[in-house]
Amino acid sequence: MELRLALIGFGGVNQGLFELLLTKQDDLRKYGIDAKITAVTDLRLGTVINPAGIDTGALRASIQAGLSSVPLEADPGTTVTPDADLDATLKLVASDFVDVVVEATFTDPQTGEPALSHCRTALESGKHVITTNKGPIALAQKELVSIANRHGVLLKYEGTVMSGTPVLRQISTTLRGCEVTGFSGILNGTSNFVLGEVAAGKTFDTAIKEAQVLGYAEANPAADIEGSDVQLKVMIMANALWGAGLCRDDVSCQGITRLTEHEIRRAMTEGGAWRLVGSARRSPDGTIVASVEPKELPAGHPLLAATGVTNAISFDTDVLGLVTVTGPGAGRVETAFAILSDLIEIGEKVVADATEAAA
Ligand code: HSE
Repeated sequence: MELRLALIGFGGVNQGLFELLLTKQDDLRKYGIDAKITAVTDLRLGTVINPAGIDTGALRASIQAGLSSVPLEADPGTTVTPDADLDATLKLVASDFVDVVVEATFTDPQTGEPALSHCRTALESGKHVITTNKGPIALAQKELVSIANRHGVLLKYEGTVMSGTPVLRQISTTLRGCEVTGFSGILNGTSNFVLGEVAAGKTFDTAIKEAQVLGYAEANPAADIEGSDVQLKVMIMANALWGAGLCRDDVSCQGITRLTEHEIRRAMTEGGAWRLVGSARRSPDGTIVASVEPKELPAGHPLLAATGVTNAISFDTDVLGLVTVTGPGAGRVETAFAILSDLIEIGEKVVADATEAAA
């Protein structure tokens, strides 16, 4: 079954997806999926459209030439527009030659825009949506799911929490049957990397700059360091687990900047470590308490398995007790993998629907 993709935003994550798709076509075919990119648009780089499928060689050549400094190269049959704006993008996501919209533009934690509009219009136009963008999911998950349900399409957002490490999918598949009463996790790769580097002797500033170069940090790294990135992730997790409808004001938030370099190094010499921990707990009466704060964890704490850019989350469950998942929490290809796994889930549904319709 052919799935035609529109990539909205062509920064690290969607470029990572593009590379991953080049190597994973055979794996996708195992699930009956033939993925083809028909549109790429990026505010900085412009727009490339080819309803028959963009020539991947030409696109790869553009990436290798350094997309930020040259316009996207394209093959005949492809339309190239040097710029992109909201109206054009909204028209694009609703186009006939698009089945799945992959939204990976920057996250705006206040309004979720323009990503929220991209997702809403795509779903209203009957397109499946995959996003790694925390803004629209944290702020409007309920509304977007309801639009998706109304239009018989899927909204997938595995990459919004812990990049490609399966966490949201654990809740919706393998943990079904368990009651999850709470979770606590290290959900930001950048701040965890920074804490580790500072513990090892670097300054905050140097460590943050390194995280930016490595592609872990948000466009505005204050979101990583001051906790608002984790705040959005806690909202997404709590809403996915309990339909909690939490908004930002419901999650108290404190970042790592109040810690001194001395404090961070002292904890390490004592065998523990400072971590930025996001957590939420639901009481039997349904009340939810959620927070983001730096915590000094003692040696042996399960969350200390997460070092560097690695993340970890522990679920408190009624049947299994504590279940901890550890894995990459940020990175271009790691986040792109989450999109690939969402694409497989969408493809399986599309193939199943087509098979049922043909029966
Ligand atoms: N800036 C985020 C992090 C990216 O460092 O965890 C993944 O959400």
